[in-house]
Amino acid sequence: MILGIESTAHTFGVGIVTSDCEVLANEKEQLTSTVGGLIPNEIVDHHNRVKHNVLTRALRKANVTMEQVEAISYSAGPGIDPVLWVGYHFASELAQRYSKQLIPVNHAAAHLSIGEALANAKNPVYLYVSGVNTQVIVYKDGYRVLGETFDIGLGNMLDKFGREAELGFPAGPKIEQIAKQGQYIELPYTVKGMDVSFSGLYSKSLQLLQKGESIENLSYSLQETAFAMLAEVAERAMAHFESNELILVGGVGANKRFCGMLDVMCQERGATFYAVPISLAGDQGAMIAWEGYKRRNKECSVVVDARWRLERY
Ligand code: ATP
Ligand code: FE2
Repeated sequence: MILGIESTAHTFGVGIVTSDCEVLANEKEQLTSTVGGLIPNEIVDHHNRVKHNVLTRALRKANVTMEQVEAISYSAGPGIDPVLWVGYHFASELAQRYSKQLIPVNHAAAHLSIGEALANAKNPVYLYVSGVNTQVIVYKDGYRVLGETFDIGLGNMLDKFGREAELGFPAGPKIEQIAKQGQYIELPYTVKGMDVSFSGLYSKSLQLLQKGESIENLSYSLQETAFAMLAEVAERAMAHFESNELILVGGVGANKRFCGMLDVMCQERGATFYAVPISLAGDQGAMIAWEGYKRRNKECSVVVDARWRLERY
């Protein structure tokens, strides 16, 4: 059994998994807000406040003691620097107190690994779409990022738009609901090779919002445009890498319309689409625990690295 601690952004999580990737517990607390964004110090205070309680809940849920856990992994990056240190200090204190191995893991790799394990995939293309990240990735002697966003991640773009429209944080799930009542209006679609850009899409949507365009139409069209852009680059990556498996990971993967669109694209080319279940798609400790299990015998000199790219893992 490995215990994983997630602390890169708004979520503080503790997960416990077995060597068969069975999730015994996956407890978390997320800092949300109804107004504006969040500042790092508020997140640090929040995580420090909830960490002991989240750990206790996870141990109770899994019905294990700290003594029975074999190792402790934590997300060492990428993420918000002061927030990463909360996770590191908590993990290292526990590792010392209970004499356990301490395993730093890459948060992005953890998203991919839990997807790969659940999908039982052989040669997948990964679409990693979260708040901060939007990347198309394959694994060939290490992770290779084939394409990514030139500016902001899709989740952050949705959240930013949601802030302007006073939808609260995170806005992604709200936009998904509102979009169901919308009609399509044309918005900037920007794909360059395997890369995408969302800033034009964001600015135009904001402009239209300020001019009185309905939030329903904008939500629907924002989603259709951004998701189609990502379906295009995912399909291109699958064609180039002769892969017939696509795995969607990251918080935006909770979106049913997004999954539906990718599923149709995959079906049309005789490929398999796999979306990680909501409980394991966003940030949580179980994926950090599973990645820790995979990395338990590898050397790693990183303690905390806020800008830890997958290629350097
Ligand atoms: P990372 O550090 O990996 O970038 P993250 O901190 O951005 O992770 P995640 O939990 O992976 O966190 O993703 C959160 C994002 O997912 C938020 O931007 C949120 O708006 C978005 N999101 C969540 N649910 C939905 C949904 N149903 N539709 C669209 N976006 C969603
Ligand atoms: Fe994440």
